[in-house]
Amino acid sequence: MKKILIAYSSKTGNTLKLCKNAVALLGDGYDVELKTIDEINTLEGYDLVVPAFWVDRATANRAAKKFIKQIKNKNVAFIATLAADPAGEHAAKVRQHAPSLADQSNIYKGIFLARGKVDPKIAERTKFLPLGKKLKDRIYESSINSREPNEAEFNSCAQFLKEIIDAL
Ligand SMILES: Cc1cc2nc3c(=O)[nH]c(=O)nc-3n(C[C@H](O)[C@H](O)[C@H](O)COP(=O)(O)O)c2cc1C
Repeated sequence: MKKILIAYSSKTGNTLKLCKNAVALLGDGYDVELKTIDEINTLEGYDLVVPAFWVDRATANRAAKKFIKQIKNKNVAFIATLAADPAGEHAAKVRQHAPSLADQSNIYKGIFLARGKVDPKIAERTKFLPLGKKLKDRIYESSINSREPNEAEFNSCAQFLKEIIDAL
């Protein structure tokens, strides 16, 4: 059986929730370890490494970025949560940029994006960002309208993983 590592970085729980539920939906036929990026000492023996991150200014959050940079010669796929609509323009930029997060020696297998709720206190603080009004309003709106990842996204994420693992 192929060995899979999902290495997550989650500040307020959305990314962890998505990963946990997707792994549960994969069931017994899959050998998947779910660990925080901080508790990983080695990547040896894994057939697929899946860093899971939260989107910070249209890219991976800093700690996840640092972890991703260390991955070499692996099959790599990403899971991420963000406030914006995964089908929208902002998410398209995240998708486009994602392959360049990992070292060229890896084989990039894709990214799965789902919604993630912005903590209301953080959402209020976006009103005071030192940015132009238009951009600030857009960030505030997207934060206020954000929601947690849902059941449909758990299923789609499990399907995304299954397709990659089954083809390894
Ligand atoms: C500092 C900061 C920057 C963020 N930047 C973005 C962003 O550029 N685009 C976006 O859609 N969401 C952004 N978000 C929202 C988070 O990506 C989203 O709430 C995510 O689900 C948080 O994941 P977590 O609960 O696992 O920490 C940002 C949140 C914070 C706190």
